[in-house]
Amino acid sequence: MPGGEDDADGGAEPASSVEIRPATRADLLDVFRIEKAVFEQPWPFAAFERLLEAPAFLVADVGETGLPAGDDGVAAGNALGYVVADVTPNHGRDIGHVKDIAVRPGAQGRGLGRRLLRESLGELAAAGAAVVKLEVRESNHRAQSLYADEGFEPARRIQRYYADGEAAFVMALDLNSWPAERA
Ligand SMILES: CC(C)(COP(=O)(O)OP(=O)(O)OC[C@H]1O[C@@H](n2cnc3c(N)ncnc32)[C@H](O)[C@@H]1OP(=O)(O)O)[C@@H](O)C(=O)NCCC(=O)NCCS
Repeated sequence: MPGGEDDADGGAEPASSVEIRPATRADLLDVFRIEKAVFEQPWPFAAFERLLEAPAFLVADVGETGLPAGDDGVAAGNALGYVVADVTPNHGRDIGHVKDIAVRPGAQGRGLGRRLLRESLGELAAAGAAVVKLEVRESNHRAQSLYADEGFEPARRIQRYYADGEAAFVMALDLNSWPAERA
């Protein structure tokens, strides 16, 4: 995954009326803006285009909630956050991969990251994944704590995984032991 920053506006109200839905081409500009706002080494726009048909490319849609827009350097739009995850066949024990997840800085700390993650795990399970893995920067304690809370366990550490030399933890979740009703 790209590298993250730890600068949410904490203590915000939950965004329970935000809808999590599949991403469409019309969301890609919002998604890319968020990506550039939260990651020091963002994915290129074309990477999101290529993954539009992935089993779990989901966005958190602001809808009519009136959640803040634009106070964090990101233009107002429909997508407050996104998750990108796919599945690789593996001899009957298919592997889900959460490749990218982010919430716009001004909307962090309201439960959207957790909802996006849970919905993506539900989609990966429906697409046949038995286990799910992800990589997270060693310094990204916020994301690690979210993943651990959802049942991910550290599997290994990869030195110099990121272009700037930082190590990644690979974390893994056995979907058989993950309560699907969370999605
Ligand atoms: C990681 C990220 C997606 C989480 O999304 P979010 O909407 O802010 O998170 P949520 O409000 O759903 O909180 C989920 C959990 O994350 C952790 N968390 C959230 N804000 C936190 C903070 N300020 N400090 C520490 N942990 C925090 C907590 O475990 C929290 O659970 P809790 O509220 O029950 O304690 C978001 O912070 C983000 O986009 N970060 C930048 C991009 C990034 O690092 N992506 C992950 C790459 S591996």
